Amino acid sequence: MVLETQRLTLREMTQGDFLALCKILQDADVMYAYEGAFNLDEVQAWLDKQFKRYKEYGFGMWAVVLKETDKMIGQCGLSMQDYNNSKIMEVGYLFQKEYWHNGYASEAAIACKEYAFDKLNATEVYSIIRDTNTASQNVAIRNGMTCIDKFIKHYRGVDMPHVLFSVKKVL
Ligand SMILES: CC(C)(COP(=O)(O)OP(=O)(O)OC[C@H]1O[C@@H](n2cnc3c(N)ncnc32)[C@H](O)[C@@H]1OP(=O)(O)O)[C@@H](O)C(=O)NCCC(=O)NCCS
Repeated sequence: MVLETQRLTLREMTQGDFLALCKILQDADVMYAYEGAFNLDEVQAWLDKQFKRYKEYGFGMWAVVLKETDKMIGQCGLSMQDYNNSKIMEVGYLFQKEYWHNGYASEAAIACKEYAFDKLNATEVYSIIRDTNTASQNVAIRNGMTCIDKFIKHYRGVDMPHVLFSVKKVL
């Protein structure tokens, strides 16, 4: 799977992306919505989870590579998440802090949504976002999404209020 946008390439992560992944998942500012930075074992577990998702579904969180430098600057992709006793397809994104505020997350998120609609035959995609995470909610809005629900998510032993954003495929 390779997805191209104007400035970015999205592709499956490999073990060789471990250090770039550490720059994202070990940064406390990036990880505040996830209750703090990951240790090395948690980074490896995250990567292994994506490998498992690629095998099981053919998609997961992908590496986002900046064409200009050929460097991995973030992650964006699709995953199946639990919501109201069913599975929904989520567009997710986490970027290295030094690459925020350039529109890269929105560009990647839009590409993932279009891939879900055009290649995976999804009719609706979602983003599940912590209520305090305004930057992420703004990406969802730029991805054409609106808020459709609020609920509590249990993650790393903490109850966190979340908002559910979604966008439907125009048929
Ligand atoms: C969520 C996250 C990826 C959003 O990053 P972001 O930089 O705010 O979003 P974008 O990459 O879409 O950039 C948008 C910004 O770039 C600006 N921009 C600059 N050039 C642009 C361009 N060519 N196109 C679009 N926007 C552009 C926009 O005006 C906007 O500015 P703002 O940050 O002042 O509002 C980032 O905050 C992050 O990694 N957070 C930690 C992880 C996380 O919480 N993930 C979500 C979990 S639900």
